[in-house]
Amino acid sequence: MTTADIILEAEAVECRFPAGKPLFGAPRFVHAVNGVDLAIRRGETFAVVGESGCGKSTLARLLTRLIRPSEGRVRYKGQDLETLSDRETRSLRQHLQFIFQDPYASLNPRMSVGALIEEPLRTHGIGTPETRKARVRQLLTRVGLPAEAAGRYPHEFSGGQRQRIGIARALASGPEVLIGDEPVSALDVSIQAQVVNLLADLKAEFGLTLVVIAHDLAVIRHMADRVAVMYLGEIVELAPASVLFAAPQHPYTEALVAAIPLPDPTARRARAHVEGELPNPLSPPPGCRFHPRCPHAEARCRQERPALSAPDAQGRQVACHRAGELSLSGLAPVTAAQSPEAARRFDLYRAARAAEHAQGNRQEPS
Ligand SMILES: Nc1ncnc2c1ncn2[C@@H]1O[C@H](COP(=O)(O)OP(=O)(O)OP(=O)(O)O)[C@@H](O)[C@H]1O
Ligand code: SF4
Ligand SMILES: [Mg+2]
Repeated sequence: MTTADIILEAEAVECRFPAGKPLFGAPRFVHAVNGVDLAIRRGETFAVVGESGCGKSTLARLLTRLIRPSEGRVRYKGQDLETLSDRETRSLRQHLQFIFQDPYASLNPRMSVGALIEEPLRTHGIGTPETRKARVRQLLTRVGLPAEAAGRYPHEFSGGQRQRIGIARALASGPEVLIGDEPVSALDVSIQAQVVNLLADLKAEFGLTLVVIAHDLAVIRHMADRVAVMYLGEIVELAPASVLFAAPQHPYTEALVAAIPLPDPTARRARAHVEGELPNPLSPPPGCRFHPRCPHAEARCRQERPALSAPDAQGRQVACHRAGELSLSGLAPVTAAQSPEAARRFDLYRAARAAEHAQGNRQEPS
């Protein structure tokens, strides 16, 4: 891999939010992101997972310069985002686009669908009024909605259709990177399958790089090339999806993987689980931040912070003092016997894909 393959990177990025000043003592800060290093490759689907409050959305906002790091650097195609001129910042907005979890909240209800999709084109001075109208119709069709939807309003559409409108809007300015913060988690499972497949198709068609934040590891397992697992503001494991799910090396990853539901009572596997809540981010534990919940913690885990290792031959990085010496459980490839629920989910993805192909993508989506 050369540096030209890297489209977006974070180097030692930290983000602290002020959390008020107590009556006595120093001001307090939430360390939402604490020393993150990562390099997203052009054309890949890169996922970020972790429990609520671990800093996923903050990291996504840092990568798109919606907020600025307290420390460290974010680079897009090698250029430090802190050094961008106003013109370059506008160009960055054109090339890095966000898809939100709740398309209804992110779409102005008083604007027609056509105006919403056209807005980024106008903002970036792309096209004439006529060519913009044509582009809006083309984008609507491409995301599986009728061109006439341009004259209607967001509330007239279902959740899945609104997410398609959000995707059309994100695509309008011709981005290179789409960042989705929980882009399908508000949708029904069957509708999720359609939207996940749509994103995969668009990625291939437009040569996009996708960064996807999700709680749902079944979705991630289906769509991601590489996965970063976050815990309390830090990346604890980063690996190709197949490697991470089959043989996690960080105890927290093992617990996340084990939490993928196995509803069939006859299907059993060793269920690693973590006790307790995410610690208070105002006063994170010393040493390994995961140690109060880790069943494998030993003395040095309470004192020394484990650094994220350099990539091994499989491309895996892990931040654990005991990585490699622990015997952790992963998931075998999905079969109906092992995990009916996961197999059902994957069948839904395949069925949605087959239906799209059979109907030439012309079905009215939900
Ligand atoms: N603007 C802000 N001001 C203060 N604290 C913030 C702000 N934004 C986020 N935080 C805090 O930073 C931490 C990380 O929040 P973040 O929203 O990035 O987590 P998340 O992983 O996206 O969670 P979720 O899965 O619930 O969306 C949390 O403790 C949160 O309360
Ligand atoms: S460093 Fe220690 S506490 Fe942290 S995950 Fe590894 S074994 Fe557990
Ligand atoms: Mg979030």
